[in-house]
Amino acid sequence: MPESGSGVISDTLPRARLIDGRASAARLRAEVARQVAVLAGRHGVTPGLAVILVGDDPASEVYVRNKGRQTLEAGMRSFETRLPASTTQAELLDHVARLNADSAVHGILVQLPLPGQIDELAVIDAIAPHKDVDGFSLVNTGLLAARGAGMIPCTPLGCLLLLQEYLGKLSGQRALIIGRSNIVGKPMLQLLLREHCTVTVAHSRTRDLAGECRRADILVAAIGKPQMIKGDWIRPGATVIDVGINRITVSSPDGPRQRLVGDVDFDAAVRVAGAITPVPGGVGPMTIACLLRNTVTAACAQYQIDASSLID
Ligand code: GUN
Repeated sequence: MPESGSGVISDTLPRARLIDGRASAARLRAEVARQVAVLAGRHGVTPGLAVILVGDDPASEVYVRNKGRQTLEAGMRSFETRLPASTTQAELLDHVARLNADSAVHGILVQLPLPGQIDELAVIDAIAPHKDVDGFSLVNTGLLAARGAGMIPCTPLGCLLLLQEYLGKLSGQRALIIGRSNIVGKPMLQLLLREHCTVTVAHSRTRDLAGECRRADILVAAIGKPQMIKGDWIRPGATVIDVGINRITVSSPDGPRQRLVGDVDFDAAVRVAGAITPVPGGVGPMTIACLLRNTVTAACAQYQIDASSLID
């Protein structure tokens, strides 16, 4: 029975496996907390993460609050700097320089986006590369591209860990990344190449995006356009990683309400894909868990502790 007469799709149709990012992130955070306890007990080291928030963007506020809470829950030290939207570039660079010099701080993150008067790239490159837990600096970008090493940006790292957990080895898979941002698309390309995928990066000028999607065994959507990727663009059985977090207004019996959706039309895609991340509860929780993991990696490197000696 493909469809009921009312237009409601029957629940007897196959549904993709749900990739449970909340559960994976909880396991990763527990492992990080265990490593933090070992670092403290065996080496007397407590990793510290400093986050700088400039301005009062509501979404950034939520992210920064969650980062601080989860940092403390993992047993690490959390340092928060909140600066007004009028902060000058020189003032922000001064804060970064102070954190670079602070031996209790092992990781530094400047929440993006920054207000227009500040040159984002200059600020990112002012963070000491060994404390750059976002992995956005030129040094870490170059290390990932040329050597498959360095600090790996948290969202693409989270996507990779989910793909490996659900698919195992990725070698030979045909992957399509939609979006070419420095935060997700470009580092995702490097990570999937490192895993021996055949990778295509699509973007706003790509011709026949639907056709590109239909060839992909793995689809990573990171474009920030609500529900843009349609169900019939997806190759049957493909694995879909939806990085988008978009707020839309939908009507309900109680009037209009806000809802979070991804870049993929989930309700249609879940009938075609083999596995798919929901929004919320997919990639999102993995990003902060990977940030905590990167902070432990950074702390280990700063004390010449072999991070693999902490792994269970
Ligand atoms: N804004 C949105 N995502 C990110 C991220 O991964 N790192 C930082 N610093 N800012 C962001």
